[in-house]
Amino acid sequence: MEIRFRDVTVDRIKTDLLILPVIERQLEKSPLHALDRRLRGKLRERIQKTKFTGSEGSNLLYSTAGALPAANLLIAGLGKSEEIEPDTWRRAAARATREASAIGAEEIAFYFAPSREAENTAAAVVEGVLLASYQFNKYRSNSRPAVNLKSLALFKPGLRRTSAIEKSVRLVQETIPGVFLTRDLVNEPPSVTTASFLGMQAQRHCRGRGLSVEVWGKKKIESMKLAGLLAVNRGSLEEPRFIMIHYKPSGKAKRKVALIGKGITFDSGGLSLKPAKSMETMKLDMSGGAAVIGAMSRLPHLGLNVEVTGYIPTTDNLPGGNAQKPGDVIRYFNGKTIEVLNTDAEGRLILADALALAARQKPDYMINLATLTGACVVALGTQVGGIFSNHQPLADQLTRCAREVGEKLWQLPLVKEYREQIKSSVADMKNVGGPHGGAITAALILPEFVDDLPWAHLDIAGPAFAETHTAICPKGGTGFGVRTLLRFLSTL
Ligand code: BES
Ligand code: MN
Ligand code: ZN
Repeated sequence: MEIRFRDVTVDRIKTDLLILPVIERQLEKSPLHALDRRLRGKLRERIQKTKFTGSEGSNLLYSTAGALPAANLLIAGLGKSEEIEPDTWRRAAARATREASAIGAEEIAFYFAPSREAENTAAAVVEGVLLASYQFNKYRSNSRPAVNLKSLALFKPGLRRTSAIEKSVRLVQETIPGVFLTRDLVNEPPSVTTASFLGMQAQRHCRGRGLSVEVWGKKKIESMKLAGLLAVNRGSLEEPRFIMIHYKPSGKAKRKVALIGKGITFDSGGLSLKPAKSMETMKLDMSGGAAVIGAMSRLPHLGLNVEVTGYIPTTDNLPGGNAQKPGDVIRYFNGKTIEVLNTDAEGRLILADALALAARQKPDYMINLATLTGACVVALGTQVGGIFSNHQPLADQLTRCAREVGEKLWQLPLVKEYREQIKSSVADMKNVGGPHGGAITAALILPEFVDDLPWAHLDIAGPAFAETHTAICPKGGTGFGVRTLLRFLSTL
């Protein structure tokens, strides 16, 4: 899709769909009246008839029937002026793109006159348009091919392209393919996305200058003593994989970052079997790993000056005859031991190996992403990820980056007192706590494996997968985390 910036008025722009964002109850402040004059009052009539106020999410579609160079007009409500932020524009642009595709528009033009944050807002509009175009139709026999948007023009009288706007728009354009890759990997059926498939996908998509991929098979995993991954894998006929992706920039890197992603390709719970209903979406359980692959795949294109290593332990969690049993004890290569009382608390078991391995490289920051607990979904719902950290500046920066890209993170505490709950009578720790605060007791296991390095854990069990579609994403994998990670890496 071509992106253009144009210095032109609303009654002059030639396009299939002219999108005019408006602030709630401030319709007269927009160039609406200029359009209405050309449409001889018909637009105002429609607005009054439909009681359109410009509330957030409201859209009014109007066919100009040749009265304007623009074939159609979409008035897009942004809501109340004090509540408008870049994400409001992102969602409005995404909704408008859906309208565009419904009427077969190939060229759209967005009236772009934000009152503040021009760069972030331009990037958000472009991002909304791009994100809304995602579809996963591989397994449908009756899907209509999506309308291909050919061009998006941001326009306003006097609009000039600045290098700052260009830079932020380019960052978005280079980021989105990583989001789509992550969505694809999550949306594939779980018998397609096996550990070995995930390894192959990493090799296929993480190419380019400075990027290399290494995939360890079972033998190597055994020789490296990744005991958590092996324990979880025991109930499965599929072999595990340990995926490592390395990015080394051409210049001297200022910072070294480790990204660790949970790669459970299907979580049945193991012998602590989940009920059928809870299993329906458990192909999502590799979303953290998929986000790491998606983000890493874009690093050569973004040319960031950071050294980044991605670590993805991956297997499914099944209750086969050789499965690990409640009561088993795992001994990790760093000497620590965990008693497995519930085989469904498997994420922390495989993250422990990966964190311990990553910590050996002494990165400046370690960030893990995992669909770790249902408890986090109970706490924060499906739109917000939990963030835990032993390093407040890191937590703050990640939370800020998330907000800027419209992905919500909310910090949860690593409550020291709750460590009591994961004390085991036979080992150093047990893998489940009490009935309450499950997101926290899960998170408390992880810092035992990070050697006190600055570390953050993102529990993305809620936002990784959309059970109802939103403006920027259909049902299914959302690619949550990719944009936050790349934004974060670009600030270092
Ligand atoms: N993969 C699940 C967490 C999950 C739940 C992700 C819902 C997405 C949506 C994780 O492995 C799990 O099963 N956690 C258990 C932990 C419990 C056994 C201590 C949970 O949350 O119930
Ligand atoms: Mn589980
Ligand atoms: Zn899981």
